Amino acid sequence: MERKELLYEGRDKKVYATDDPEKLIVSYKDDAIAQNGKKKGTIRGKGVINNRITNVLMQLLEKQGIPTHFVQQLDERETVVRKARMIPLKVIVRNIVAGSLSTRVGQPEGTRLKSTILEYRYKDDVLGDPLINQYHAFALEICTPEELATIDRYALRANGILKECLQELDITLVDFKLEFGRLSDGTIVLADEISPDTSRFWDTRTGEKLDKDRFRRDLGGTEDAYQEVLNRLIGSM
Ligand code: C5P
Repeated sequence: MERKELLYEGRDKKVYATDDPEKLIVSYKDDAIAQNGKKKGTIRGKGVINNRITNVLMQLLEKQGIPTHFVQQLDERETVVRKARMIPLKVIVRNIVAGSLSTRVGQPEGTRLKSTILEYRYKDDVLGDPLINQYHAFALEICTPEELATIDRYALRANGILKECLQELDITLVDFKLEFGRLSDGTIVLADEISPDTSRFWDTRTGEKLDKDRFRRDLGGTEDAYQEVLNRLIGSM
């Protein structure tokens, strides 16, 4: 597969066209940004680790019946994916109170939730990805009710699969973010990434954070934590 022109450069990834109009190449960067751009840095080796972690988890979900954009890993930083028109939604799934939810509802981090929470953010850098609900999504024509029903189903099923897989590796899945796109025929697929950049992973035994909160909160050891997640995932295969 040949890499052609750069189509898009985001905070964490670059996306290239290929010689196949239905396929793209994603290239993971080491750049790290938090607090909506106010905090910038580099996490050495992050791109390589997140490429691997995302691909392992996408393949796991695909095997369990969730359609994803994953096609094939090209090299340590790059992956071929199916071209999808992205839906500008960040779908957040929460099992335990942490991060912005902790602030919003005044409950300490680590509080167990009686049931899973699904949240939607409207993906817009300038607006800082505001929280919206399903009424906004339909009224603003971000997606249709049918599409959102599919997205919710995939997000909740992904939560069950990932929670169980990670629990076996002594990793507690606190929360995570998913993004979805439409293939040319309108099929909804899981796209973007699933990594310590977009999830909260806590070591089940020690409670240690194995995710981007290490960078966001200046805890140090970010790269080692990401590598630890990958090592446990690979060790399990
Ligand atoms: O910050 P907050 O607590 O709302 O984040 C919830 C989850 O969504 C975390 O796992 C975080 O990494 C992820 N997230 C993300 N991109 C954002 C906001 C949150 O991946 N822009």
